[in-house]
Amino acid sequence: MEIIIQSTAEAATDVAARIIARQLRKKPGSVLGLATGSTPLRLYQILIGMKLDWSRAITFNLDEYIGLPREHPQSYHSFMWENLFRHVNIRPENVHIPDGNAPDVPAFCAAYEASIRAAGGIDIQVLGIGTDGHIGFNEPTSSLASRTRIKTLTPQTRRDNARFFGSENQVPFHVITMGIGTIMEARQNLLLAFGGNKAEAVAGAVEGPITSINPASILQLHPVAKACLDEPAASKLTRAEYYRWVYDNKPAWQVI
Ligand code: PGA
Repeated sequence: MEIIIQSTAEAATDVAARIIARQLRKKPGSVLGLATGSTPLRLYQILIGMKLDWSRAITFNLDEYIGLPREHPQSYHSFMWENLFRHVNIRPENVHIPDGNAPDVPAFCAAYEASIRAAGGIDIQVLGIGTDGHIGFNEPTSSLASRTRIKTLTPQTRRDNARFFGSENQVPFHVITMGIGTIMEARQNLLLAFGGNKAEAVAGAVEGPITSINPASILQLHPVAKACLDEPAASKLTRAEYYRWVYDNKPAWQVI
């Protein structure tokens, strides 16, 4: 995994935005895997400001709450349209977000997997990380080979996300999420983590054993995984100096 530590979340986000912009410019029909939550908000603002051409881009979101109406302000449909899609020239038919109201969830999940394959697979998958190490909504003990499916949120994730809903009892219990196996098939994974509350999960993911207790640790097995971190999120990494040294001494042609 390439560990990119920047002094602020803004600087770390700038790196991620450059990676995605380069991908979209190189391949206008790129398939992007997108994430929600507070972490990628600034990433989307920067990408909007870059005035990139999204007319051929195809997107797949990681996850969605089950049972929230699509128009609910906290649905990930609302999040994505509000914070990115309505500001760029993406074609609505190229946007894919799990349907949290699908009448047949397993059939929907199988079809979601099939549409990712039909689009040619994901070029870059953007990931946040939960304080419990989840990626997408793959909570601890998720199968490391899992595919898109229903999951039950942990009490910790429901508490973490209560800030968006006003109170914890309004946070849905169930979600549809791409599986860890699905995420691992993306050609590149780009994990963003900011803030000291992510430090422990990040340290486990980067320096701990590969374990379903910290689902993000599976990225150690991915051939092209990058983690863009701010200082607080990197604060529990024992080899932070080494990661900084590597990044500062990359060959010029590799610098993003
Ligand atoms: P956050 O969520 O960006 O709101 O911290 C990250 C996640 O749960 O993956």
